[in-house]
Amino acid sequence: MKVLLTGANGQLGRCFQDIVPNEWQLIAADHDVLDITNTEHVESFVKQYQPDVIVNAAAYTAVDKAESEAVIARKINAQGPYNLAVAANKNNARFYHISTDYVFDGEKTKPYLTTDQTNPLGVYGKTKLQGEQLCLKVNPNVTIIRTAWVFSQYGNNFVKTMLRLAKERSELKIVNDQIGCPTYAGDLAYCIIQLIKQNNIPGIYHYCGDEVMSWFDFAKLIISKAYELNMIPKLPKLSALSSYEYPALVKRPAYSVLDKKISVTIIIYQVNWIIR
Ligand SMILES: NC(=O)c1ccc[n+]([C@@H]2O[C@H](COP(=O)([O-])OP(=O)(O)OC[C@H]3O[C@@H](n4cnc5c(N)ncnc54)[C@H](OP(=O)(O)O)[C@@H]3O)[C@@H](O)[C@H]2O)c1
Repeated sequence: MKVLLTGANGQLGRCFQDIVPNEWQLIAADHDVLDITNTEHVESFVKQYQPDVIVNAAAYTAVDKAESEAVIARKINAQGPYNLAVAANKNNARFYHISTDYVFDGEKTKPYLTTDQTNPLGVYGKTKLQGEQLCLKVNPNVTIIRTAWVFSQYGNNFVKTMLRLAKERSELKIVNDQIGCPTYAGDLAYCIIQLIKQNNIPGIYHYCGDEVMSWFDFAKLIISKAYELNMIPKLPKLSALSSYEYPALVKRPAYSVLDKKISVTIIIYQVNWIIR
């Protein structure tokens, strides 16, 4: 099987490369090799390599910065996936695209189903939702996997920030009223590989880590583990903040736990596609 991976240098991209089955032929394209916003290049690249599967791990993921860079965020999170979905469709490739829990507003108190109403609070979530919608519109064979709170040994993420701050500061103030599920990018990569192997039904899926917690709980876990492993010399004081007290450019969902059960959205979208 020939797999084209875009955004190969991101957290998910690098974890995917670490565990991709040996028998698969992987074309790992980072931003320099394939800019997913370049429609013509995406088209010619996919035509040239003829992958059986395309996995899009490329994204604009700077949630706060997106507020002032809406045009570029939209290009990468909506136009880019659209380009890939079109190219995949033309070349008979299965397309796997990754989306986010931030397509929801966080008003629910029970895990979000794939059928739940979306209502993103900020530019990042809005552009990711546009990406989902565009892909579903042009490609009946797209699989969209929404995930949350991604961390890994690669790139920048909450775990790395906490480890750095724990070394630099004696006290850390962390938000305690946003609840979600930290997701290891390697587990997400494994989930995608399993879906590809199983030749899953296209549609929307949810995948995230099993533990439900606040950013404060997550920080506590990271720091206590790091101390246990002698990665930090002393335990900093951890103080809980409310979202109102924490300076952020954009509101985040208060609750964005994803329900991982497969839902009928898949069938609904297929029916819509057939009707159109
Ligand atoms: N990180 C999270 O907490 C989180 C939460 C929920 C969902 N997600 C979703 O999970 C997926 C993977 O996220 P991640 O954390 O692995 O992201 P990441 O580490 O930020 O990696 C994104 C990658 O995309 C590349 N990229 C940006 N613009 C591109 C373009 N125009 N063409 C090609 N590549 C481009 C970046 O390369 P450069 O750096 O060179 O530009 C980077 O290597 C994304 O769809 C994201 O929206 C992430």
